Amino acid sequence: MTQFSQRIIDWQKLHGRHDLPWQNTIDPYAIWVSEIMLQQTQVTAVIGYYAKFMQRFPSIKILAAATQEEVLQYWSGLGYYSRARNLHAAAQKIMDDFNGVFPSHFDDIQSLSGIGRSTAAAISTFALNLPQPILDGNVKRVFARHFNVSGYTGAPKVAQQLWQIAERENPNDANKESDAIAYTQGLMDLGATLCTRTKPRCTICPVNHSCEALALNLVKSLPTPKPRKTIPEKSVTMLVLIHQNTVMLEKRPPSGIWGGLWSLPEVTEGANIDGVTLQNSSALKPLTHVFTHFKLHITPQLIYIDQLIPQVNQAVKIWLPLEEAIAAAIPTPIRTILMSINALTNKNA
Ligand code: ADE
Repeated sequence: MTQFSQRIIDWQKLHGRHDLPWQNTIDPYAIWVSEIMLQQTQVTAVIGYYAKFMQRFPSIKILAAATQEEVLQYWSGLGYYSRARNLHAAAQKIMDDFNGVFPSHFDDIQSLSGIGRSTAAAISTFALNLPQPILDGNVKRVFARHFNVSGYTGAPKVAQQLWQIAERENPNDANKESDAIAYTQGLMDLGATLCTRTKPRCTICPVNHSCEALALNLVKSLPTPKPRKTIPEKSVTMLVLIHQNTVMLEKRPPSGIWGGLWSLPEVTEGANIDGVTLQNSSALKPLTHVFTHFKLHITPQLIYIDQLIPQVNQAVKIWLPLEEAIAAAIPTPIRTILMSINALTNKNA
């Protein structure tokens, strides 16, 4: 055991988090769902979603039997929806290939869609008593600072260096499983609560005496930020078609942004809308949504329709009462738009 690891373990036992809803269980399914939700999303945002998801889908079997539509509905608002689609697909694979039992071999765990090395390691450590090194975003930051590793952590050479550190520091004393759990959880807790990106609290850090970044005054500049490419921007007009307090939603194609979610119909400049008698139409306040790879500027166009479009294909287009649409499997910016219209409608009622 290295001194670093021992200090992380001691600190976690005293000051780390012990009462999160996915702790104090060894059910690999419960831990798997939590680890997927916690990818790219903070604990405080996850907790409410996690409780509702686990209540509706308490087992792999129940999740596998659900429709993608319903799984996405429970994920709606959490973002990064491929996580939900992968989780659902992996549950079905476990039913088909592993007799419905969460696999216990590391390679099998990692073969499931949406589970990379670090997530597989977290599940293996927390649920299966098989400690493996982890390296998620928070832990990369802790290691990059403490061991002074510069360069963008997503670059293969830098990631390789960090994995070597993760392997070296990982306690693999087979008789001390609880220490492996405390160490793994401790790294996550340290990254989330003390060694934060913008306001690290180095004075109370359990490994401040050995932190190279702190000694060299590099805490602010590590980890090295991702080289910035200017991200592309796209502008779309979205139609908010309202007919007697119902709104039209259109299903997005299965892959790509918001894949499989319900959204508003998009139009490009100059397109006309067939079969619609327009009573009045007004542009609403534009909004911008930033994805990892591009920025989307949305101008919602509110259109009241007195006559319904004939022959709407229910699988792709549906008319829903506003309140129902807000609760459906829709992305956050669409919910923002619909909520502003709902507020408007209620005010005018
Ligand atoms: N982030 C990823 N996994 C986590 C966990 N088990 N607890 C807290 N934060 C996490």
